[in-house]
Amino acid sequence: MKMIRHVCAGAVLMLLINIEGTFCLNPPQDVKLVGSYLQWKKPPDGDSVLYSLQYRRGFKSDDEWYNVTSHNGTELRFKITPEFYGAEFRVRAEKGNDVSEWKGSEKVQCVNTNSCVPVMKLFVKPEKVYVTMAHMDDSLEKEHGEHIEFNLSFWNVDNGGYSKVESIITNSQKQILELESGQNYCFQVQYLFYEKPYGNVSNQSCASIPETLEMMKSRDLLFIILTTLLVTAMCGVCIFLLFKHHKKVKQLLQPFRLEIPDHYLEFFRSGEFPLQACPSPSSQSLQSCDIIIVIENS
Ligand SMILES: *[C@@H]1O[C@H](CO)[C@@H](O)[C@H](O)[C@H]1NC(C)=O
Ligand SMILES: *[C@@H]1O[C@H](CO)[C@@H](O)[C@H](O)[C@H]1NC(C)=O
Ligand SMILES: *[C@@H]1O[C@H](CO)[C@@H](O)[C@H](O)[C@H]1NC(C)=O
Ligand SMILES: *[C@@H]1O[C@H](CO)[C@@H](O)[C@H](O)[C@H]1NC(C)=O
Ligand SMILES: *[C@@H]1O[C@H](CO)[C@@H](O)[C@H](O)[C@H]1NC(C)=O
Repeated sequence: MKMIRHVCAGAVLMLLINIEGTFCLNPPQDVKLVGSYLQWKKPPDGDSVLYSLQYRRGFKSDDEWYNVTSHNGTELRFKITPEFYGAEFRVRAEKGNDVSEWKGSEKVQCVNTNSCVPVMKLFVKPEKVYVTMAHMDDSLEKEHGEHIEFNLSFWNVDNGGYSKVESIITNSQKQILELESGQNYCFQVQYLFYEKPYGNVSNQSCASIPETLEMMKSRDLLFIILTTLLVTAMCGVCIFLLFKHHKKVKQLLQPFRLEIPDHYLEFFRSGEFPLQACPSPSSQSLQSCDIIIVIENS
């Protein structure tokens, strides 16, 4: 029993040593992003080692790593180009068949690729536009803090795009602009770093400024007043005409003589006409009964 336990412990120890043993080389040290470079330091006693570099875009454990083919050598840094925005790197040392563990970097942010552009959004309200300007990520703020401002520019596009461009320099991420309703405006924003343009200009975004509720209401009110006036005038004219041609109208409105076809008269005379069909003594039904009686007598 004791024997087996010893053997097992020995096996586990061997296994651990084996796992450790697969990395005979020390990994690169201090892997980090500095400006637009990924850089690292030589491992201790790491003479004449090569470094290989990989990257991935996602951060799930099963996301695939890809070789950075342009970097496989003794160099201790790698220039990050814009296509690596958002990616994560890892680097390891290699010497013959020996390889070290991988050492990972932080995620590449816009400062590292010089691609910081403010992300602009417009919310249109009557006579107003709310512009929000967000950072792509927090790297620019971290790096340059309060020396970063936004240059928000906008122009009216209704007169063939010849109107003058107005700009607002601000370090607030929210801006409310009062603009003429019923007009179309375009907007764009760019960073200023120490009051100089920095990075690319954002995409242009255009919007049409709606009217205020009061303006719409007063227009509706005007419409209602005009229609009421028109209807009243027409009624007035009608009533006037009625009065003027009073007699003629009365003649016209006289009831037509009822001409009942012979076979109906036949039917009524046969005596099968159900008198009970004359219902409740409301004035109207009484009238119709009267008519029927007249017909029977004739
Ligand atoms: C990366 O390079 C290594 C060594 O050259 C190779 O074994 C591996 O398959 C490559 N990986 C990819 C994803 O291409
Ligand atoms: C880098 O080059 C070495 C030899 O030059 C090779 O053994 C190794 O597989 C290469 N690694 C990658 C990732 O291409
Ligand atoms: C802000 O942007 C506008 C439009 O692109 C430009 O004309 C103006 O010079 C910029 N302002 C500064 C301070 O760079
Ligand atoms: C950034 O500006 C460069 C030229 O200055 C241009 O080639 C590139 O397309 C721009 N990128 C974006 C996203 O606008
Ligand atoms: C800017 O426009 C380009 C091309 O239309 C598009 O690919 C890109 O995603 C846009 N950028 C932003 C921040 O909306």
